[in-house]
Amino acid sequence: MNGIGSDVAFLQRFGPWALVTGASSGIGAEFARQLAEHKFNLVLVARRKQRLKELAQRLERAAKIQTKVIAVDLTHPDFLHVILAETGAIEVGLLVNNAGFGLAGKFIEHEMERELDLLNVNCRAPLLLSHVFARQMARRKKGGIIIVSSVSGYLATPYEATYAASKVYELFLAESLRYELRNDGIDVLALCPGSTDTEFHDLAGSPAVAAMAVEPVVREALRKLGKNAITIPGWHNRMLVGLLKFTPRRLHTFFAGRVMRKLITR
Ligand SMILES: NC(=O)c1ccc[n+]([C@@H]2O[C@H](COP(=O)([O-])OP(=O)(O)OC[C@H]3O[C@@H](n4cnc5c(N)ncnc54)[C@H](OP(=O)(O)O)[C@@H]3O)[C@@H](O)[C@H]2O)c1
Repeated sequence: MNGIGSDVAFLQRFGPWALVTGASSGIGAEFARQLAEHKFNLVLVARRKQRLKELAQRLERAAKIQTKVIAVDLTHPDFLHVILAETGAIEVGLLVNNAGFGLAGKFIEHEMERELDLLNVNCRAPLLLSHVFARQMARRKKGGIIIVSSVSGYLATPYEATYAASKVYELFLAESLRYELRNDGIDVLALCPGSTDTEFHDLAGSPAVAAMAVEPVVREALRKLGKNAITIPGWHNRMLVGLLKFTPRRLHTFFAGRVMRKLITR
């Protein structure tokens, strides 16, 4: 199944429950689908309750698993209390910090409230969730955390400045925690997708270019959890990141700015 050595070992290592944020669409919904194939019970988190319920019902029927739906807005200051109250005695063995959104356009034209929402969803939520669930995992001496960063975490991006900065935070958080938590039995992985075919681009306001399907992006993350610190799905994305290492940063920013300006004015 999906290239993971032994499904039973994978489930024992990280299961039986996984919590996926942003499970109502795109990469998060695909994480839920593939983890259900691996027989994980699922806590599904996002704002759109109806979508989560429909996904939960489909996965319960198809994979014979248990699910719990939590409709919560991760920008809310108290979202963590809601999640902890709802998860109760459930032992979350695998946390997938996936929820996130982008904001394309000129920085000074954005409402500050939206910029802060972005920081809350892309940075504050994975910070709080990783902290609380890693403590529980450390007590059990086993667990896994996936943080969905982006290729944008390698590239300062004019006209998507806060988004790119938020993805650096997630990338560094994952890399650092992987080192810190390895002796607590916790594997941490940063997933850095390039453009992926989801609702993300319409919401962010910049069109998708050379987008990958969600299925291989998520398959790669589950294959690399416990093996690598970072995974970048797609050879073209790995090539781009490789190229960035050998060229001056001011050139990256210059070209990223030109491309983004074209994309947002299309
Ligand atoms: N698509 C790409 O090209 C791409 C590339 C690199 C990285 N990524 C990253 O991949 C992750 C998933 O994005 P996606 O591409 O799958 O986009 P998507 O289809 O738009 O999904 C985003 C998910 O995040 C949830 N979310 C957004 N704001 C939220 C909030 N305030 N509270 C709770 N949940 C919220 C959404 O659920 P509700 O709207 O129901 O709340 C949805 O389930 C993000 O972190 C994104 O930065 C995407």
